[in-house]
Amino acid sequence: MAHRLAHTASTGGKRHLERDARFARLRAEHIDYFRSALGSSDVLDGTTLEGSLELTGFNEDWMGRYKGNSQLVLRPRDTSQVSQILAYCNDNNLAVVPQGGNTGLVGGSVPVFDEIIISLSNMKRIRDFNQVSGVLTVDAGVVLETADLYLAERQHIFPLDLGAKGSCHVGGNISTNAGGLRLLRYGSLHGNVLGIEAVLPNGTVVNDLSGLRKNNTGYDLKHLFIGGEGTLGIVTGVSLVCPPKPKAVNVAFFGLPTYDHVQSAFQEAKLRLGEVLSAFEMMDSHSQDYVHRATQFKRPLETQHDFYCLVETSGSIANHDYEKLEGFLDHVMTEGIVSDGVVAQDVSQVKALWHWREGIAEALSKAGGTYKYDLSIPHKDLYQVVKATEAELVASNLLGATDDFPVESVLGYGHMGDMNIHLNVVVRRYSDSVQNCLEPWIYAWTQQHNGSISAEHGLGLAKKPYVGYSKDAVMLDLMTQVKKLFDPKGIMNPYKFI
Ligand code: FAD
Ligand code: MLT
Ligand code: ZN
Repeated sequence: MAHRLAHTASTGGKRHLERDARFARLRAEHIDYFRSALGSSDVLDGTTLEGSLELTGFNEDWMGRYKGNSQLVLRPRDTSQVSQILAYCNDNNLAVVPQGGNTGLVGGSVPVFDEIIISLSNMKRIRDFNQVSGVLTVDAGVVLETADLYLAERQHIFPLDLGAKGSCHVGGNISTNAGGLRLLRYGSLHGNVLGIEAVLPNGTVVNDLSGLRKNNTGYDLKHLFIGGEGTLGIVTGVSLVCPPKPKAVNVAFFGLPTYDHVQSAFQEAKLRLGEVLSAFEMMDSHSQDYVHRATQFKRPLETQHDFYCLVETSGSIANHDYEKLEGFLDHVMTEGIVSDGVVAQDVSQVKALWHWREGIAEALSKAGGTYKYDLSIPHKDLYQVVKATEAELVASNLLGATDDFPVESVLGYGHMGDMNIHLNVVVRRYSDSVQNCLEPWIYAWTQQHNGSISAEHGLGLAKKPYVGYSKDAVMLDLMTQVKKLFDPKGIMNPYKFI
């Protein structure tokens, strides 16, 4: 997946932060040690001119908003090498940042200053798959799409799917507790992950790679690594339960006049599609305009609408599911809930319709820049955050049709079924005035509406100052104590949310 060079703020996203003097600076003897432990080809040395160019992609995040200055990338090949290098870093006070596919959207996967990057990209073994239980065990560096293709050949699917599947790693998915497009059907990774192997900063290997669905033997520690964002240790292996591949997948795409109609359509979809409903995604007209602008693809519907929804069913009998979906569409159109709609007729149409939803992030990346907010908000207020943000920016004289205004557009799309909206503020250029208008205002608005400041992307560096809008003092204190227990020297992904 291409990395975009954006007009990034000169701070590289690290406002008000200073390098922690407790951490040692990288020296030649450290590099020599890592070469002896891993072999030269798995140590990318940025202290040379040639090497520093090689490190650019590792130092910068997918959005081009966060930039670090690491001089070293280590690419271990197995768990024992991860253990060896982490123990050395801990003994020598060298700070590290674990990196998977580097598709994270909150600045968590890149260094803030000169932390050593530990890339899991060489750990890509599929360790085991059991056809009877559907339990898959993989190295953390396996790319999500690779795992899914492997499973497809065995009539199963990965219980998570998202637009970055061609680049993100399973270990990165676990570490962010990624949600994605089918959480509505298959549930969160907290339910699907059965076991984890992880290395603590002092090199201790935690082997909790259970393949069991039921295991009530005290604290379930693996959950701390799910969504831990690399702050407690490095996930090296994962076992998870994978559902059978559905025999029939159908997709409908439709237009609606208002957000109230979107809510009614969702209710009807749950009632009428029941157990075959596998995704319900919502997109506003602005988000679709950006996809159209980026791809020039013919729009799925003849007329334009303020809102669009994509509904997917997955089941075992194609005709039965297709009839159900058509019946649903007939009903919502007769009732005036939906204005117009189409049902995909074959696999290529299914893919094409999905692109209007999955392609939004990529399409937005072609704009000058985007402030991205990934919010959980109860359904009744879910889209209101877009309108409220727009009003706030207009009142501050920051949003307008001409180049004089830094903000081009405010839009929303997301996982309607999961109460998760992606609020995106598309800018002609990044600027402190826009950021100061948006933050903490959006987080306060979300808290007032009983929401969470992160539904699925995590906290990373982006939300570091704002965790208090979603966690109270007692929880923050417990989180700090957990961090100290696992990582007393604080070398794991420092400067981020904890
Ligand atoms: P990275 O970006 O490399 O890392 C993310 C965090 O995890 C960092 O804090 C890093 O330090 C840590 N980490 C990575 N690997 C490990 C490890 N092995 N051990 C310990 N810590 C580790 N997210 C969603 O939830 N739902 C979506 O629908 C979705 N769609 C996306 C679409 C696009 C086009 C893009 C670019 C991103 C999307 N994302 C989505 C965000 C992102 O893809 C996910 O957060 C993904 O899970 C990150 O995986 P990664 O391997 O790229 O991790
Ligand atoms: C999505 O659902 O498309 C992703 O989470 C990425 C984004 O927020 O743009
Ligand atoms: Zn998402």
